[in-house]
Amino acid sequence: MTDRVIINEVGLRDGLQNQARRVSTTDKLRLLEALLASGVRHLEVTSFVSAKAVPQMADAEDVMKGLPDRGRIDYSVLVPNVKGYERGCAAGMRSAAVTLSCTETMNRRNINMSLEQTEAVCSEVMRRTVSDGLVGRAYLSVAFGCPFEGNVEPDVVLRLTQAMFDAGAEEVIVADTIGCADPFHVADLFRMLAGRHPPERLSGHFHDTRGLALANCYAAFQQGVRKFDSSVGGLGGCPFAPGAAGNAATEDLVNMFESAGCETGIDLQEFAAAIAIAEQCVGQALGGRWLNWRRSQQSRQTTSRD
Ligand code: COA
Ligand code: ZN
Repeated sequence: MTDRVIINEVGLRDGLQNQARRVSTTDKLRLLEALLASGVRHLEVTSFVSAKAVPQMADAEDVMKGLPDRGRIDYSVLVPNVKGYERGCAAGMRSAAVTLSCTETMNRRNINMSLEQTEAVCSEVMRRTVSDGLVGRAYLSVAFGCPFEGNVEPDVVLRLTQAMFDAGAEEVIVADTIGCADPFHVADLFRMLAGRHPPERLSGHFHDTRGLALANCYAAFQQGVRKFDSSVGGLGGCPFAPGAAGNAATEDLVNMFESAGCETGIDLQEFAAAIAIAEQCVGQALGGRWLNWRRSQQSRQTTSRD
C-alpha cells in the first residue's frame, strides 16, 4: 500500500515571520493561491500574535478574510495566548496551534511567560478548542536543543507532549526550531513518543540550519510519522531563536517522499510557480536542492536546443 505523507506548508507563517521586508496581504494571498494550485491542502497561514513583536503578522485578520475554499482546505493558525485564540475565533479559524517551548528561557524570550505559565495557557487554549469544536495543535518548540539552554532532555518533551494531549490537543508537533537535531536523536525521540502515542497524532518540524532537515524527516518517518511541516523554497526562521535558519524546503520533502513511492498530492512542476512567487514576495532567491536541480535541467535543455 502506498504511504500517504501530509505536508503542512508553513511558509506563510514560519516562513515569513522573520523576513525584514514586509509582504502585503495581497501578495500573501497570491502565494497561497499558487500553493493551493500545486495541490497543497494543509497550511499554516498566519499567527495572532502581537504586531509589535512580529510586524509581518499584523494583517492576520485580513489574511483570514481572504482564505479561499475554507471547507476543503486545512488552514491552521498559531495563537500564543488566550487573546490570540479569541482573535482567531472571531476571524473564523478552525484549527489553532499553540507554541510551548521546552525550556524556561525560550518561553520567556518568545512569548514572555515562564514554562509553567506557558504550559497552563497552552492547556487552557487546548481545552477551549475541544469545547468550541476546533482542532487543537500544540508545537513543542526547541524540542531537540535550545539556543539559550542547550540540550533538551527527552523526558521534558515526553512530559509536555502528554500534557498537551491530556488537555485536548489532537496533534503534537515536535519542533527543531534551531535546526540542531540529527537523525539519530530524532529517531530516538520519536521512537519514545510513538511508543506512547499514535504516530498519526505526531508531526515533525525541522529547520535546515545544518543541512539535516531532510534526513531528520526521514528518521521520523521511519518511526511512523506521516505529517511534516515545511516551507516553500525553504523560507523561515524564528525571530526569537538566534541562529534559526529556514525550514525544510517543501519541494525537497515532496521530492524525497514521492521518489520513495509515497503520495503527497503536491505537483512539483506546479509548485515551482509558487516558489517563484515566494521569491517575488521576499525579494530574494529561494529554493531547496530540487529547485536548483530543476533549473539546471531547464538550462541544459535550452542550451541543447540552441
Ligand atoms: N495578539 C495581539 N495583541 C496581544 C496579544 C495577541 N495574541 N496578546 C497580548 N497582546 C497585547 C495586549 O493586549 C497588550 O496590548 P496593550 O499594550 O495595547 O494593552 C500588549 O500586547 C501587551 O500584553 P501582554 O499580555 O503583557 O503581552 P506581552 O507583551 O507579554 O507579549 C505576546 C506576549 C505573546 C503577545 C508576544 O510576546 C508575542 O506576540 N510574541 C510573538 C511570538 C511569536 O510569534 N514567535 C514566533 C513563533 S513561535
Ligand atoms: Zn519553525
